[in-house]
Amino acid sequence: MSHQSFTIAVIPGDGIGPEIISAAITVLQQAASRDEFSLKMIEVEAGAAAYQKYNNALPPESMAACRQASAIFKGPTGLPHVRLPDGTEAGVLGGKFRNGLDLYVNLRPIKLYPNVPTALANRQPGDIDWVMVRENTEGLYASRGNGIVANTGQAATDTLMITRLGSERIVRYAFAEARRRNKKKRVACVDKSNVLRSFAFFRGIFKEIAAEYPDIETDFLYVDAAAQALVLEPDRFDVMVTENLFGDILSDLGGATVGGIGVCAGANIGRDHAYFEPIHGSAPALAGKGVANPLSAILAAKMMLDYLGRPDSAAKIERAVEQALLSKAIVLNPDGSAQSGTQAIAEAVCRNIF
Ligand code: IPM
Ligand code: MN
Repeated sequence: MSHQSFTIAVIPGDGIGPEIISAAITVLQQAASRDEFSLKMIEVEAGAAAYQKYNNALPPESMAACRQASAIFKGPTGLPHVRLPDGTEAGVLGGKFRNGLDLYVNLRPIKLYPNVPTALANRQPGDIDWVMVRENTEGLYASRGNGIVANTGQAATDTLMITRLGSERIVRYAFAEARRRNKKKRVACVDKSNVLRSFAFFRGIFKEIAAEYPDIETDFLYVDAAAQALVLEPDRFDVMVTENLFGDILSDLGGATVGGIGVCAGANIGRDHAYFEPIHGSAPALAGKGVANPLSAILAAKMMLDYLGRPDSAAKIERAVEQALLSKAIVLNPDGSAQSGTQAIAEAVCRNIF
């Protein structure tokens, strides 16, 4: 293959972000040099620190650099004490990127790797291997920044929005993902259509789109039952598609079943842009100590290589993580923390990239 070059906009983020992103970049560069392509990293300021400095968590130059890049690699952003006047966190970039770049898919693999302590009894790798397809631009988050606080100060509302376009495109993505994975070929529609009209509308659209994919099985769960099923029968799932807030909550629940969100990555994908990130927060209490587990960032890097059209290199990173866990070069604790430091984990993964 001819020598390819990609420009990556890197947002190190807040708290443990810079440490785990730097560890993941070590792994990315190892994979790139092994497979003879290049990644040009452009560091971009964004998040809580940028808000404190510029009064803007995503300054226009940063957004411009992100728009120009082949992909965006982002650490966790936001710090609990850095807040907007309305009480929400200032450093959160989700709304700015997800809506600003129309990244309508939030893809979150939930996969149990070898020797990772799971909170579920008697589950082996292979039993838990599914992917969350979280709608990323509407649902209850459509209200982000637009909720109403009554002038009495005694009530507040946020409104959930489900559109036909938004539902069709996310459901189609979910079915295509089930085909691409070629595993159980099953898409679960998770909603609350027993109570809310918006979700009955969503389920109706899901059924319309399902007819376009006769080779893919369908499954239907109300969100409360889905929460139970993720614990009692995680092997039921292959691809799950759901509304934004439900997807936020259930992806953390899924994370808990595979060693905690410290090992979970997410891809935010639209037609023209995408960013890749750990799904957890900036864990400020751990920052600067070199102890944070970078596997979430390393697996986010893996997803970025898939997106950039380098699936072989992506698979090498995943296999290296698996191998390092199998050989106990990396040992994780039940709370998702690791027994070795951030950089040592990156090196253990690098040693297994062939
Ligand atoms: C996530 C995060 C964000 C979200 C927060 C930080 C706003 O929890 O990406 O899952 O709720 O979407
Ligand atoms: Mn979340």
